[in-house]
Amino acid sequence: MTIEEMKAQLSQHLSKKRFIHTLGVVDAAVELAEQYGADIEKAKLAALLHDSAKEYKLKDMQAVVESKGLAVDSMMRNSGALLHGLAGMIVAEQDYGVIDPEVLEAIRVHTTGKPHMSKLDKIVFLADYIEVNRDFPGVEALRDLAKENLNQAVLLGYDNTIQFLLDSKATIYTLTIEGRNALIEEIQANSREK
Ligand SMILES: [Fe+2]
Ligand SMILES: [Fe+2]
Repeated sequence: MTIEEMKAQLSQHLSKKRFIHTLGVVDAAVELAEQYGADIEKAKLAALLHDSAKEYKLKDMQAVVESKGLAVDSMMRNSGALLHGLAGMIVAEQDYGVIDPEVLEAIRVHTTGKPHMSKLDKIVFLADYIEVNRDFPGVEALRDLAKENLNQAVLLGYDNTIQFLLDSKATIYTLTIEGRNALIEEIQANSREK
C-alpha cells in the first residue's frame, strides 16, 4: 500500500479532527527526522498511523490486542489513552501492511514512552505534542526546544504529561516514569562524554 492509499483509507476511519491532527504529526515528524538525521520515510509512516486505533471503542482495542494474544497489565487494558498505541501497532500491521519493526514500535510506544527509545520513537512521541494544530500551555516552548535538542524536548514532553496527570489527580503509568528516568540518565551520560 502506498502512503497515499494509506491516507485515503485512514481518512475513512478517523474523524476530520483526528485526521487533521495526524497530518500535522506527519509534517512535524518529517521535519524532526530531517533535522536529527532519522529515516524520513519511517517517520512519515509511523506518524501517519500512530493514532490509527485511537477512535476505536475500548472494547474493540482490547479485542485487537487479544486477537494477537498480547498480554497487557490492567492499567493499560482499561485505558484507551494508553492502549491505542499497542492497538494502533496491530492495526498498522494488519490493515495497512506495515512490517517494519522500527515503525511498529514507534507507533506502539507513542502513548507511554519507554526507557531507551530509539530516535524514531522519540520523533513520533514529540511530533504528537508539537504538531501545528496543538494548543496547550507551554506548546510554544516545547516547539522551540524541539528545534534545539531532541532529548531535552522529549524530556519536557514527559514532564508536561506527568504534570498534567499530577494536576488531574490521575494515575501515572509506571513505564512513563521509567522512560523519563532513563532519558535523564541518557542526557547526563551524553553531557559527561563532552
Ligand atoms: Fe495517540
Ligand atoms: Fe496523536
